[in-house]
Amino acid sequence: MDILIGLQWGDEGKGKIIDLISRDYDIIARFNGGANAGHSIYHKGKRITLKLLPSGIFYPHIKNIIGTGVVIDPIALQAEVEQLQACLPDTDLFHRILVSAKAHLVLPTYKYWDIYFEESPEYRTIGTTKNGIAPTYSNKILRQNIRVGDILSKNFEAEVFQILAKQYLELQALGQDMPMLQELYDNFLEACNFFKKTQITDTEIIINEALRNNKKVLAEGAQATLLDIDHGSYPYVTSSNTIASAACVGLGVSPKLIDKIYGVTKAYCTRVGKGIFPTEITGSPANELRKKGDEFGSNTKRPRRVGWLDLPALKYAIMLNGVTDLVLTKADILNGMSEVPICTAYERDGETRTLVSPTSVDDAARPVWKFLDGWNTPLGKINQQIQVPKELKLFISFLEEELKISVKYLSTGPQREELIILD
Ligand code: GTP
Repeated sequence: MDILIGLQWGDEGKGKIIDLISRDYDIIARFNGGANAGHSIYHKGKRITLKLLPSGIFYPHIKNIIGTGVVIDPIALQAEVEQLQACLPDTDLFHRILVSAKAHLVLPTYKYWDIYFEESPEYRTIGTTKNGIAPTYSNKILRQNIRVGDILSKNFEAEVFQILAKQYLELQALGQDMPMLQELYDNFLEACNFFKKTQITDTEIIINEALRNNKKVLAEGAQATLLDIDHGSYPYVTSSNTIASAACVGLGVSPKLIDKIYGVTKAYCTRVGKGIFPTEITGSPANELRKKGDEFGSNTKRPRRVGWLDLPALKYAIMLNGVTDLVLTKADILNGMSEVPICTAYERDGETRTLVSPTSVDDAARPVWKFLDGWNTPLGKINQQIQVPKELKLFISFLEEELKISVKYLSTGPQREELIILD
């Protein structure tokens, strides 16, 4: 099984790379997160945002698996499938979607718990998407959840009503604004009935049997390494594990069966929400980079924080994931700069560190900058390695030397064909 993950704080352009390589696979599987991420994919020139569905959904030969580690909001899933049905009217999408019976369901009340925790002054504001992801994972650990397989049981409706009613009363007592309970319940049940049209099954068996029969499986990560609940910049992280090893847990595949690990990084950095961001820039240079890179959330349209490439953090991410194939995206956005800054180390109390967990970088740590010559060739127009401007080649060589890994793919624009495979 191969795995693809983001090496920064998300939005590295994983969707485009997955879309491009996915045609060579038999199964594409999601292993973590929920409808809080958004891969952007261009299909027949139209930008489509996938939140829960794996990126192989456009290919008839690919089985798309939503694994056990994912938390699923049936209402979001229905909306996403309906959006795709409108683009692919003659396609039986339900046959392409397999969902783990053991994946946990995001209940409608969880969204209001999420809003409550985000907005109540008594709790930390994390900057979540308020999609109910953290309450779902919390209740998974508390062993209070309803899982996808339960949709098929005859007690399902009664069980859902009981849990919703209890949580509704608790939220009401806390003063949380919500629609009527009956409305939440009815909408949820309608989406669960729609959900039954997908194939709810033991996806770990399907994946392992496929691997035994030499089929190719790609696990696609959502969010990214520095948002990992254990290794990321806690508490400003997502609620699941995002690193490559999480694919083994989230899909039920042995680590012995892992082959390639694709790691995707932008040529600069962005971050959504709060938390440490040592190479962040502000003011007009930030506005310019944000605008040029279209750095606004694909779901929420929130402006992303922007900054320069952070090599100590990137080294850390490559180490945690065991990346075998490095992918560099959005170098085209830096086109036209006279020089390109890269943070190569942190200095603190006279000590220089080149491999750093971003959580251990505090305000006293000073980034050490290297300035490389910029390039001035619109990259979207080139499609061969030989045409890559020499300054960008030097930028890539510098990264390879520092990171001790070669850049295998250079993405030169948002479109599928804007990609160069490097020797
Ligand atoms: P998350 O799972 O939310 O982290 O998303 P992601 O990593 O899949 O990123 P997303 O799909 O939001 O991609 C970011 C944007 O960058 C999309 O609009 C892509 O089409 C675009 N994109 C990807 N690669 C490149 C590139 O090399 N250059 C440019 N200009 N845009 C790119």
